[in-house]
Amino acid sequence: MGFSGRDFTDIHCVTRDELFYVLDQASVMKRALKARDVCAYRLADGKDLIAALLFYENSTRTRTSFEIAAMRLGLRTTGFAGTEGTSVLKGESLRHTLDMYEAYDCDAVIMRHPLDGSARFAADHLGVPVFNGGDGKHEHPTQTILDLFTIREHLGRLSDFDIGIGGDLRFGRTAHSLALALSKFDGVRLHLFSHPSLALPESLVTLLKSAGMKVTVYENLADMAPKVDILYQTRLQKERMPDLSEFDRAKAISEFTLEMMETTRPRFGLMHPLPIDKAAPSISARVDGHAKALYKEQAGNGVPTRLVELAVSLGLLGGDFSGEAWARPVGDERFVEELPVVVKPARTDVSIRPIRDGGVVIDHIQPYMEEAIVRVLRVRERKDIYRLGTVKSVRRPGKIKGIVMIEDRELSDAELAVVAAVSPGCRVNIIRGGQVARKMELRLPWRIAGIPGMACPNKGCITRDEHRESVLPVMIRMGANVVRCHYCDQIVHSAKVF
Ligand code: NCD
Repeated sequence: MGFSGRDFTDIHCVTRDELFYVLDQASVMKRALKARDVCAYRLADGKDLIAALLFYENSTRTRTSFEIAAMRLGLRTTGFAGTEGTSVLKGESLRHTLDMYEAYDCDAVIMRHPLDGSARFAADHLGVPVFNGGDGKHEHPTQTILDLFTIREHLGRLSDFDIGIGGDLRFGRTAHSLALALSKFDGVRLHLFSHPSLALPESLVTLLKSAGMKVTVYENLADMAPKVDILYQTRLQKERMPDLSEFDRAKAISEFTLEMMETTRPRFGLMHPLPIDKAAPSISARVDGHAKALYKEQAGNGVPTRLVELAVSLGLLGGDFSGEAWARPVGDERFVEELPVVVKPARTDVSIRPIRDGGVVIDHIQPYMEEAIVRVLRVRERKDIYRLGTVKSVRRPGKIKGIVMIEDRELSDAELAVVAAVSPGCRVNIIRGGQVARKMELRLPWRIAGIPGMACPNKGCITRDEHRESVLPVMIRMGANVVRCHYCDQIVHSAKVF
């Protein structure tokens, strides 16, 4: 897939080559904008394109810079800045609001929404490009592109350097997208400092390390300051904290001071996505005028970078791109391995009465997932005769496993997929005439959707029932029994979603 029609919802959906292309084009646009070389940047002139800016959360920079970028490009804009005055306050779902902007033939949607995964949902739902200006605590990819632009402008490179990220690494979406993006480049050494309660999510750290990134965690900001070429400070995301008890303690240790600035490397640059909370400053106001403080220039870079993002997605730029383009990953659809059937005499040493005639035996279930299997196969609703239990493995002493036996039942492919999702690694035996007629081992399916009772464990995810957005959960296989939420990217053990 080329750039045209492209969404910018998550940073992992943009390849390194594509990032370089956007950054290079943004440098050209930055110069053209400064020189007011209108012909060089007004690429949408006469095309009657409209961008809808749907901002459900407060914003100064992201909304304004997107709006200015759209206007300079020659687009017109519509939408809302905050939900006050909109039907969102009458209880309208995101899906229905998006439907309207599609019905009005808008050409692009730029959005900020409090729920994790909302931008991915919008992109799946709409036929026009979607730009994520921040979705809950999840991601902020277009901020990251302007951050990368600023780093490259300051250091002259995006590889082989030390970067510190400080502040709120748990709820800060800018920190998440930036760290993920940096793992695409060679030799970026990541240094982290936060209050322990606001540390980078463990699954993200694992992902970064598996991409070969060196990650060092500090106990205080003053220790980290002299060790880095760039420091990316972030605001404590008070509005996302379910429990404010740690906020004051975090606030007390999170301020970057002028004294710390004095200890930094000669080519050091201080960055911040902004805003800085004046009541809990992540950077002291005394630092603002310092030559190493880059955050004003950084915010300004939002216009050329977002102008290029809009232009490539709308097919106004990008025809000359060559390099690795992002492609939606396709997984291996197979999840059933047929095993040889060995005819053996009926066992008498088992703790549950075997099936005498026809039915299904699901064995080697992850311990205590038996109930979930009974639930998803709707055994009780169907009034099936069944037995379930947690038993000792005869072949592997010391191991326990779950087992479910259902009389007079065989499983369809769809039902096998459900069982595979709930307990990957289990074995399904189809019994006919008291003998095993078919034996299968099940692996986690590549894409898991539409299973009753399945839920993303991330409470901020758009798919959670309590948010009433009617978005069904979808999980993507990451490993033998590890899944990732298609919307909010939460990585969990597959058993945790049932
Ligand atoms: C950030 C955001 O909204 O995630 N701001 C921004 O877009 N520049 C950071 C923040 O709000 O702290």
